Amino acid sequence: MPDTTAPSTPESESATSGWLAGGSQTAAQRALKQRYPTALDLRARARRRLPRFAFEYLDGGAGADTGIDRNWASFDAIEMVPRYGRMVSPPPTDTTLFGRSYAAPFGISPIGGPGTAFPGAETFLAKAAQAAQIPYTIGVLSAITIEEAVSLAPDVLWLQLYRFARDDHRIGLDLVRRAAAAGVQALVLTWDTPVRTTRPREVKSGIVNPFRLTNRLRLDAMTSPAWLLSMLRNGIPRFVSLRPYMDGKTSFADAAAFMRRESGGAFTWDEIARYRDAWQGPLLLKGVLHPADAERAVALGIDGLHVTNHGGRQIDALPASIDALPAIAAAVGGKATIIVDSGVRSGVDVARGIACGADAAFAGKAFLWSLGALGEQGPGHLIDLFQEELSATLGQLGCAAVGDLREATVRHANAYGPGDFAA
Ligand SMILES: Cc1cc2nc3c(=O)[nH]c(=O)nc-3n(C[C@H](O)[C@H](O)[C@H](O)COP(=O)(O)O)c2cc1C
Repeated sequence: MPDTTAPSTPESESATSGWLAGGSQTAAQRALKQRYPTALDLRARARRRLPRFAFEYLDGGAGADTGIDRNWASFDAIEMVPRYGRMVSPPPTDTTLFGRSYAAPFGISPIGGPGTAFPGAETFLAKAAQAAQIPYTIGVLSAITIEEAVSLAPDVLWLQLYRFARDDHRIGLDLVRRAAAAGVQALVLTWDTPVRTTRPREVKSGIVNPFRLTNRLRLDAMTSPAWLLSMLRNGIPRFVSLRPYMDGKTSFADAAAFMRRESGGAFTWDEIARYRDAWQGPLLLKGVLHPADAERAVALGIDGLHVTNHGGRQIDALPASIDALPAIAAAVGGKATIIVDSGVRSGVDVARGIACGADAAFAGKAFLWSLGALGEQGPGHLIDLFQEELSATLGQLGCAAVGDLREATVRHANAYGPGDFAA
């Protein structure tokens, strides 16, 4: 029987004879690729399916979203010059991070409350990451426990921590102990939220601070039957990852109140040194944007720098992390593994990130869009897209392996130079 889902443009016909034909894909995968061929198609569907407040929480940035716009524009502006005449078919995408092999140099950034997009989000992200063998950094504020997450994604699970400083870091250090006992692969300290900021799109959608399920939000939810049904079927997510510290109270509102009470501020250098002592595995600092901070972190024994502006969600005047990346990579000179995120929407962006100095590029919102658009199937579909786009980019540029991207000729007009940074 002819496959009616197969695209029939001349380009795709020529592709079907090559290594990007997707010959091993199922009909369902091909159908998804036809309907949602890019992350932005998933975003458009998520926007239609989710209640307004949920979409605005997941997708909104600080200020007038100019930080998000800059993240996207800076990635889009990067050009990579191809070298033809080399046979590279098909280039492998595997990579090594912290001594462990992963199938691709991209991963999932930590998200607090991804279940707002689809209940069970953490489970589906963990399963998809394990199946694809890509890193998944689970947020400390999640609807499964650390131990459950490790059992779902034993090879690829990283854990993100916020600063819980009360009682001499009782909660933070207990989480470190649990992460080690459970077998978490890497620990990520988020230090780019020294203050709480407001996101206007959230405010305008009716989200109140501290969070409460108001009548306005309930009404909003009623207008999104598919989302509402998924919540009724699977149950509204509860923040069980922190249950031992929350007196058993795990609703969204309880978690919001708990975070206000217990967490806050950016880790100080002394505190980072303390977590370094407490955690024997790979330790990453998430939020680095200045080369001098990167150098100091490496001197303290940090293994990985997560170069990010928190997806444009803190204030919208921060540099696009992709623009800060080259100077940071030059400053640390290979002494730490570098992850970049904030604005990654495709496998082409992943390649751009590596060409500009990262070892891997992660995405946050794109995975939320995938969940909001397609529920359980979303993360796997997005990973397929990224993988295929990355393979195509490597092939087009004439790279025989991911590492060859570092040798590519790149035009990165917006990049900060080392001289742009004050000491
Ligand atoms: C809804 C949402 C919640 C987030 N929660 C966290 C979090 O709990 N911890 C953290 O370190 N980063 C958090 N982030 C930031 C992401 O880890 C990541 O840095 C950012 O999303 C990357 O940018 P991108 O969304 O453009 O890919 C969150 C981002 C979003 C969109």
